[in-house]
Amino acid sequence: MPPTPTDEERRLARLVAGHERWRGRGVFNLLPSENALSPIARRYLASDLAGRYTLPLDLDDGGDHLDNSYAGTRFTDRIEALANAAAARLFHGRFATTRPLSGHIAAMAALAPLVPRGGKILAIRPEEGGYDGYAPGYLPALFGLTVRPLPADGPGRTVRAEAAVAEIRRERPDAVVLGQSFFLFPYPLREIAEEAHAHGALVLYDASHVLGLIAGGVFQDPLREGADVLYGSTHKSFPGPQGGLLVTDREDLFRQVDPALVWRVLDNAHWNRIAGLAQTLLELERVGPEYARTVVANSRALGAALAERTFPLVAADEGYSASHQLLLDTAELRRRHGVGSGPLARRWEASRLITDLVGRLGTAEATRLGLRPEEMPRLASLLERAGLRRERVGREVLAWRREFPRLRFA
Ligand SMILES: Cc1ncc(COP(=O)(O)O)c(C=O)c1O
Repeated sequence: MPPTPTDEERRLARLVAGHERWRGRGVFNLLPSENALSPIARRYLASDLAGRYTLPLDLDDGGDHLDNSYAGTRFTDRIEALANAAAARLFHGRFATTRPLSGHIAAMAALAPLVPRGGKILAIRPEEGGYDGYAPGYLPALFGLTVRPLPADGPGRTVRAEAAVAEIRRERPDAVVLGQSFFLFPYPLREIAEEAHAHGALVLYDASHVLGLIAGGVFQDPLREGADVLYGSTHKSFPGPQGGLLVTDREDLFRQVDPALVWRVLDNAHWNRIAGLAQTLLELERVGPEYARTVVANSRALGAALAERTFPLVAADEGYSASHQLLLDTAELRRRHGVGSGPLARRWEASRLITDLVGRLGTAEATRLGLRPEEMPRLASLLERAGLRRERVGREVLAWRREFPRLRFA
């Protein structure tokens, strides 16, 4: 007879099932940091790979040459090689690793070997929409780096080439880190890279938010436009399992990054995740362009529909967004409607509309569910009724959500 589960085990089962019903099937998820995983990738996450190790290493650094520390890895290693090859193809570099466990860890994998201790990086400040991890107390402190601000005109605004170039000339950094958490428009990458390279600085492109758009050939093509290394999360606009990857076209850089990754930044790399990621990379090779184009079209359509309903948005004069994100102008929101982005998000949550509390809205997961630009006025109307008129529209949202039972682009 199977052992009887304890009360705590039953409670846990109920919590997991409750989450699945709620976030998996019961809401529209408009968080730009999240996405919906394709069914095959999800199956691979739960496969036997979830408990296995492999360590294929090419230690030609003076240590004993070692093929693999583990036996039994004949499939695991080929899965990893397949994932790396797909990542290299999709992001236009010759070298790729899918081992980073997240976008943050991919950033560590790049910074640790490529920027010397005591060196200097330029990065966009969190106040201007940059990633908190690049603020002085975090990754720079960990690696003994100085960080100076790369000028930006406020969250979501385009980085201007002249200002960035002037700052690179003045600061002479070892690396320029591009990439933002509030990320609406591409960078003038060619101009930035030209100036950085003229001073011997590397250009590191953190594509955490926009990786799925880059995979689909929209937004920008960082490695072809001058970035030396591209890295980021694989679960925001890119609809893979939570994780990270890193791609470069430069063998000299990859030969520094790859050996330093294992044992400096991580040991086991979660090969079930890598199998799920490989599946998503292969899916996007087929459907990425249509997926990415629809995500951006949905952002623009939702932006216009929200603006019509008196929501103030950043970059209204530039078509709202060229990415999967929209950004509420929180100061104007408070002035116009007397509510901050936090309380607004709570009102939406009570009506099964999930966003973050800092004023970002994302269209990636809704696009995977099958929503198209024609549906954005209806979504905006629900956001208005729940957020500004304080109506409870949860039942209506749930009924509409049930019309999208199967993922698209998967
Ligand atoms: C620009 C940027 N880089 C890195 C990260 C970290 O990503 P992860 O959560 O995958 O570690 C984030 C997370 O939001 C981000 O916005």
